[in-house]
Amino acid sequence: MKTELELNEMILEISNKIRKNRPELLPYLDEMPLTVPYCENPEMVTATLKTYHDSLEILYNKNEKSKNKLNEKAETMSIPEIKTMELDNAYQNLIVEANDISLSYIDVGIGVVPIIFLHGFPFDKTTWHSQLDALKNTNRVIAIDIRGFGQSKDEKTPLTIDLFSDDLLAFMDKLKIEKAVICGLSMGGYIALNAINKFPKRVRALILCDTQCIVDTAEVRENRYKNIEKIRLSNATEFNENFIKSVFYFDSLVTKTEVVQQLRSIVFANSNEIIMAGLAALAERYETCSILNKIAVPTLIICGKEDRITPLNQSEFLYRNITNAKIKIIQNAGHVSNLEQPEVFNNFLKDFINSLN
Ligand code: MLT
Repeated sequence: MKTELELNEMILEISNKIRKNRPELLPYLDEMPLTVPYCENPEMVTATLKTYHDSLEILYNKNEKSKNKLNEKAETMSIPEIKTMELDNAYQNLIVEANDISLSYIDVGIGVVPIIFLHGFPFDKTTWHSQLDALKNTNRVIAIDIRGFGQSKDEKTPLTIDLFSDDLLAFMDKLKIEKAVICGLSMGGYIALNAINKFPKRVRALILCDTQCIVDTAEVRENRYKNIEKIRLSNATEFNENFIKSVFYFDSLVTKTEVVQQLRSIVFANSNEIIMAGLAALAERYETCSILNKIAVPTLIICGKEDRITPLNQSEFLYRNITNAKIKIIQNAGHVSNLEQPEVFNNFLKDFINSLN
């Protein structure tokens, strides 16, 4: 019996073959009848992944006839017996081993240069669902759970922004992605800026959302360490509650309660250890303002007008100092502008991506 990781590696291999040799089949990948399996039952997970892999093999190996065969197989798969999270917009949860960690990610759509989405602290890849939905029919879009967060569990390694960008490079190598558009929100933006400094040739364009290039002020850093201490002595509940309130525009807290609730569940899914390790990674990050003038790729900067964590003046600083940059300001949005105003955010994203072609 293959392990979950082995099956994921097999899925990656066959998906890469399809991308390379039979790109015309890519639209069928998203039509696969299976979504994310329930993790409580590992046997069910491997059975689901195995079926998914087999379906991909049939798809790859056979031509016209295979489509019929695939449909036949799908019909005989007794899907109702497989307990799946049948969320409307759930995506297949993939895993790849890179830089000594099993990174969990979503990879959908078609395109030579993918867009890689990096979430903020302490979120996960599902915060990009609306952007994946909006772009997957025209682009290959990938959202990664950054080490320690979401399904990319790691409670042992001390977290740093530098390590996250090494993970990103290893991930791109493993998936044989030569160049990508890197889109990062907040902490994701810190990683994107760190990454373009370390491996500029691998970045086709940058999208920096609600982020900044400065290090923490003494006050912010001190606050982070005070929070770490409080969490160590008790738990992360109070920190999480305050944090969630601070990332939304005041109006959103009242008018977008479903989104607030969704983010709440994501934040509270983290262990205390990961919240503490994440806070330390943020507190110890290096500045990247001194490298802005070296950025030579098209860059889109997006910021919620009411962002209280990485305020608009930080985005304006990025805009003034990156040669080939555009800036878009989103009204009625705070720090999580992609969740608060997804339509406006997605339109800016689409216009920018189209301008690259
Ligand atoms: C984030 O959203 O990633 C964090 O709030 C960033 C930070 O606190 O510096």
